[in-house]
This record gives sequence, C-alpha cells and structure tokens, in this order.
Amino acid sequence: MTDDVMPLPTAVPSDDDRELLHELEPEAARLYDRHAKVAQEWFPHDYIPYAVGRDFDKDPWTPDQPRLTGVAQTAFEIGLLTEDNLPSYHRLIHGMFGKGDGPWISWVGRWTAEEGRHAIVLRDYLTVTRNIDPIALERGRMTQLQQGYDHDAPSTLRGLAYVAFQELATRISHRNTGRYSEDPVADKIMIRIAADENLHMVFYRDILAAAIKVQPSQAVRAIVDEVLAFEMPGAGIPGFLRKAAAIAKAGIYDLRVHRDEVLLPILQHWRIFDLTGLDAAAEEARRQLAEHLEKLDVAAKRFEEKMARANGGSRLVRAG
Ligand SMILES: [Fe+2]
Ligand SMILES: [Fe+2]
Repeated sequence: MTDDVMPLPTAVPSDDDRELLHELEPEAARLYDRHAKVAQEWFPHDYIPYAVGRDFDKDPWTPDQPRLTGVAQTAFEIGLLTEDNLPSYHRLIHGMFGKGDGPWISWVGRWTAEEGRHAIVLRDYLTVTRNIDPIALERGRMTQLQQGYDHDAPSTLRGLAYVAFQELATRISHRNTGRYSEDPVADKIMIRIAADENLHMVFYRDILAAAIKVQPSQAVRAIVDEVLAFEMPGAGIPGFLRKAAAIAKAGIYDLRVHRDEVLLPILQHWRIFDLTGLDAAAEEARRQLAEHLEKLDVAAKRFEEKMARANGGSRLVRAG
C-alpha cells in the first residue's frame, strides 16, 4: 500500500463496483452460458480405485503405506487443503459480486459447486490409496478451515484479476502434481481437475477483458497491484513456505512457472502492454509491471541454475 488509508475489506461492493458489475452483467451472462455449455459433468467416484481400499479399523494407516514420494505427498496435501478452504473463497467471491439473482450470483453458485468436487475427489483418492495419513489430513483440514482465508481485494477489478491468475496457477500446479506423482490414477484425477480450473480461469480472464474495455486505466492499475501482491491461497497452511519450497524444487510450481505459464499468458491475452490512452497512474503501473516481470525472470534463472548445480532430487521435466 502507498500512503493511502488501507481500505477495509468490504463485504459488499462499493457504489463504483456496483456500477461496473451492472455494466458487465450482460457479458457475465454470456460467459456463464458459454461455461454451462462447455463444462462437462463428471463424478468423483469414477476416478477412485476402490478395489485397493481396506478398512482402517482392521488395518490402520502406517507411514510405510504411501506409494507417492515425499514431495508428491506434499503437493497433494497442499492442493487438497487449498481446495478445502472453499467456504472462505465462496464468502469472498459472493461478497465481491453482491446479492441478487443475476448472472454474477449464478456464476458464484456454479463455480462453488464445481470447486467442491475437487476436494471430494482428492480426499477420496488419498484415503483409499493410503497415500497420506488420513488423520493428519483431517486435522490439517480442521486447522485450515478454522483459520479461514481472507484476501483484501479493495475493488472488483482487483478481485477479478486475483481469481484469473489464481485459477491458472491452480490448474498448472494440479496438472504438474499429477505428472510428478507418476501414478496414472492420480494423473487422471489431476487432468480432470485442471480442466475445470482452466474453464474457471477463462471465465474470470474474459470478464476482466470486458472490464478493461470499460475502465482501462483502473483495470491496469488493479491488475498490476495484484501481480505485485500475488500469493497462492494456500499461504496460510502451517509450514506452507517450507512445503512451497519443496514443490518449487521439484519443478511443480516455481518462479519460472509462475512468470511464464501464469502471469505472461494472461497479461498477453489482455494485451496489457499494447493498451493506449491510459492515464499517468496506469502508465506508471505498467512500467512497474515490466520491471517486476524482468526481476522475476532474473530470479527464476538464478533458481534454475541453483537447481542444475544441486543436481539432486527429482525434478519434473516440463514440456516446452
Ligand atoms: Fe479447484
Ligand atoms: Fe477453479
């Protein structure tokens, strides 16, 4: 934040935001309908290998049972606990879009229902395969949900920018977790979840593209603020920094992925660096954005070199 007074997290949109949401309502309706047409129905139980399941009262969980490696376990644990916090995300996004029965609220309902499947399928998979201690997992969920999650998005534009980046980040980290696991069952689950996250990203990305047309300078400033402040929603999980470092070392989600596969594709889609007629503050924000992307590139290169020198641990070989 600058010298401005820190805005209070708002439970309801401000008047300005309300106006913007109203103006974007037809586009939200169009994107919602498009989503409903392309999103495929799927069922978590179809993805779970129940044949390998055993009763826990007769055969309790022991640490030798998981077949996933330590980092794959960590990535699944972070992925699931992040999905588990859905009540907080629902509260925040519902607050951002306001009340009523229009397309914004239809979207929140649909999105929430789809997200709920992710935690169901992940927990069922991890429990049936015994790949993570189910007691630790449940205790982690209790801690995580009691703590909840907050993201002070002072405006609708910033909130939309956050969810667009976050959905793509989640799509890629889930997808890479599946590949890293070297378990075809897990891989198939993660491909399925990643396909959902992709459609979510596309909704938020495209509604923000429409917002850029309405309020280009405000939108650019909001996007840059979000890029500079971006944090994954799992940041509140106990031991997150250590676990995120292991996930980065494994190549599942690191600075290179964040910059090249999350930030750049969305920024390019919005043509942020091609927009004309911006006010001075938005131009300044764009300059900061270019500088930030450059710094991320330098840091990512340094990390890659360090990983190459260390030459230890198994690192996901990414395509492209
Ligand atoms: Fe999800
Ligand atoms: Fe999602």
